[in-house]
Amino acid sequence: MSTRQILVTSALPYANGDIHLGHLVEYLQTDIWVRFQKLRGHDCLYLCASDAHGTPIMLRAEQAGLTPEALIEQVGARHRQDFAEFLVEFDNFHSTHSPENREIVERIYAALDAGGHIARRRIRQAYDETRGMFLPDRFVRGTCPKCGAADQYGDSCEVCGATYAPTDLIDPRSVLSGTTPSVRESEHLFFKLADFGDMLRGWIDQGHLHPAVTAKLGEWFDAGLQDWDISRDAPYFGFSIPGEPDKFFYVWLDAPVGYIASFLDLARRRGDLDFDTYWAPDSPVELYHFIGKDIVYFHALFWPAVLAGSGFRTPDGIFAHGFLTVNGQKMSKSRGTFITARSYLDHLDPEYLRYYYAAKLGPGVDDIDLNLDDFVARVNADLVGKVVNIASRCAGFIHRLAEGRLAAALHAPELQEDFQAAAESIASAYERREFSRAMREIMQLADRANQYIDQHKPWVLAREGQTTEAVAVSTQGLNLFRLLMIFLKPVLPGVAQASETLLQVPPLGWTDLSTPLLDREIQPFSPLLSRIEPARVEALVEAAKTAAAAAANPDATSG
Ligand code: 2FM
Ligand code: ZN
Repeated sequence: MSTRQILVTSALPYANGDIHLGHLVEYLQTDIWVRFQKLRGHDCLYLCASDAHGTPIMLRAEQAGLTPEALIEQVGARHRQDFAEFLVEFDNFHSTHSPENREIVERIYAALDAGGHIARRRIRQAYDETRGMFLPDRFVRGTCPKCGAADQYGDSCEVCGATYAPTDLIDPRSVLSGTTPSVRESEHLFFKLADFGDMLRGWIDQGHLHPAVTAKLGEWFDAGLQDWDISRDAPYFGFSIPGEPDKFFYVWLDAPVGYIASFLDLARRRGDLDFDTYWAPDSPVELYHFIGKDIVYFHALFWPAVLAGSGFRTPDGIFAHGFLTVNGQKMSKSRGTFITARSYLDHLDPEYLRYYYAAKLGPGVDDIDLNLDDFVARVNADLVGKVVNIASRCAGFIHRLAEGRLAAALHAPELQEDFQAAAESIASAYERREFSRAMREIMQLADRANQYIDQHKPWVLAREGQTTEAVAVSTQGLNLFRLLMIFLKPVLPGVAQASETLLQVPPLGWTDLSTPLLDREIQPFSPLLSRIEPARVEALVEAAKTAAAAAANPDATSG
């Protein structure tokens, strides 16, 4: 197997809110895939950053009495901490509000302009006279022009599904001031997406996307590729457009550029990463973006077109996932199912969730459900009952009967071989992001390991004085456990590390599957993972309810 060079990203989280369990579907999915690639010995980089620009961040900072720079710094630090505790291991986590991002955005814009891909047009937009600013669509509300539903957003109606411009709303009002917006004209810059129609069709035909995503793109192609407005008027928190006073790049232009900026920042600090090897059109590096299904348009149309139009390479895959439901419904603050990463970490071990999501995730855009009862049952049955249990059943005998030393030979070499033979199928499941299949196959092996132990009953052998036999069976059990831990290491890096300590081995890799662990000492057993107590989950849901109530009614709790 030759070493692949792979660059992987997750979508950049907005730096104005907390990471919650919905976000984590993506970061855990990506982290598992990246850890799998690294475990297989590939050269894989995992990059991310704060998505730091735009009107909502500017306004949130103002509300909090902070500069936008201070807000994004604070929120970015919280995000890093949450990710680290969920064992999401980025090679770099940068920010779109960085000199590197400005440099690349300016370079991209200059290249697009020089190539004739930027158009100028005057547009009419809602304007808040009291606040002195143009209003993004979502900051205007009013009555739907189609069905008459009251209090709808400026871009679409949640009742009838109609889409329209904010200027079409009946009785529009600014969300910021409550006043009726006026309509003002301003010149905007547009990226001419249609210039890249053939390029995009060719790129899509190369099979970079899941069939469900390709089908969606087909609809957009049929509707016609529209020019994309990439500029915003002051006041705006973002990068000013060179040569265009009071104009800023729209946040969605510089957000994906943050992938490149995160790379550039890392490359400048590390010194061993060549920019063109990763980003020139003929790059040999595989480039994959993990995203949510709601931002496919940006990543599968605008982004490859922007890259191609400015002399960069295009992605090899856009991996879109679905949304998270909890107990079969949208996350809800009143039901206590809108759970932040921090609140989860205050109550439960992150590896429970890593495993549960892995057991649910496939390669497509289907939503996944976190059913809290099933979560408890599955984690306890699979991880604790099947996997960790093997080590706890076997390690004690090695210490009690053999002073901590494993036997010199395998007791069931054909079973060991069966486990090794499963590696190819498990690897292909990980590679294709069929994590649920990988988990199923691994748990079937865990069942076989437990059946083997049940059949040979080392506790009976020990009681009857058949010491050599008991140590042989326990050694075999621990060897099967070790193979399972290699398979599970992308999902359970913490348990894998504790297992490495137990077995006194250096960090396990995929190549370790081929060699057994024999005739050497192991550490005394200490618990690797405990059962989930349902009361902890209940406490988490209660805490989420309390936090939501406090946020809705801050006076009640401030004393
Ligand atoms: O949808 C979002 O949450 C965006 N912040 C994702 C940006 S991904 C990339 F383009 F930066
Ligand atoms: Zn409507």
